Amino acid sequence: MPNAPDVHICEVGPRDGLQNLDMFVPTAAKCALIDAIAAAGVREIDAGSFVPPKVVPQFADVDVVMPHALAHEAITIGALVPNFKGAERAIAAGVDVIYFVISASETHNQANVRRTIDQQLEGFRAVRAAIDAMPAGSRPHLSGGISTAFGCSMEGRIGEGAVRRLAMSYAEAGADEIGLADTVGYATPPLIKQIVEGVRSDLGPAMSLRLHLHDTLGMGLANVFAGLEAGIRRFDAAVSGLGGCPFAPGARGNIVTEDLVFMLEEMGLSTGIDLDRLMTTREILAAHIPAKHLTGHLHEAGIPKALRRAA
Ligand code: COA
Ligand code: ZN
Repeated sequence: MPNAPDVHICEVGPRDGLQNLDMFVPTAAKCALIDAIAAAGVREIDAGSFVPPKVVPQFADVDVVMPHALAHEAITIGALVPNFKGAERAIAAGVDVIYFVISASETHNQANVRRTIDQQLEGFRAVRAAIDAMPAGSRPHLSGGISTAFGCSMEGRIGEGAVRRLAMSYAEAGADEIGLADTVGYATPPLIKQIVEGVRSDLGPAMSLRLHLHDTLGMGLANVFAGLEAGIRRFDAAVSGLGGCPFAPGARGNIVTEDLVFMLEEMGLSTGIDLDRLMTTREILAAHIPAKHLTGHLHEAGIPKALRRAA
């Protein structure tokens, strides 16, 4: 196994990237996308959601896609889970990570999972208990995602206190990691610093924190920079900038993995990802997804030859 990279990137294209599209991406294309992401050296992939197909039809084939993803044994494979039933399915599939979701915004939480924040926390505790009842060594990692941590298109700005309280509740309930998600893309660099530093001071240095950013206002990579300055070394991103939440109006795509890798490597921070290989994911997507959904500065400009590092 090569050395751990300086910055850990989780590719969320196969999940967040596809959940908001109004066309079904064929199962074979989802599997090919995961294979191409894996071949580029990405170490963690959010490969789908265990949600009712009626709620998000895109993941009607998750029971086929997830085992395919899990065949990449060297890679951490995770799934989004909104409730206990989803966790049971994810555990049965054998995922490495469960990404549980609770919103800092009560309104978004209701829209997204049809529960109050407190009810959703109860669900999280039940998932924790189910995992703890599994034999040691087979337990998936349990990530506590905080959606709308930097703003909500229905409630507006979310108070720092609400985010910090939810992060504390997650930690007390046994989250292995906290994910701070800018679900609608309202974060700015100072807000990133403020929230990350607040949560960090509450939870201490041992708690793993990740940032999940959307580029709605074009602040995405600036927010990564702010996150790096605040000590974050784990970021979610989606190839070709796909993404958005079906239950959060106004959300645009995730930060673009290709552009993120380029920026980090230019900063001298290793990612372990081969950019040329990652760029090949565009062909797989373009065969099924209209061009208007696919973004990315490097795809538009090409990787400037003058900037290529000497081998
Ligand atoms: N997977 C499959 N089926 C599920 C399920 C899951 N995770 N959770 C519930 N169901 C089934 C139930 O068994 C029940 O089936 P039945 O009608 O045949 O008895 C039905 O769905 C309704 O169950 P209920 O618990 O009442 O769910 P709900 O209708 O209140 O929906 C959620 C709650 C959480 C399942 C739904 O809001 C959801 O999937 N939200 C996630 C949305 C999302 O993916 N957002 C983007 C990512 S942040
Ligand atoms: Zn997202």
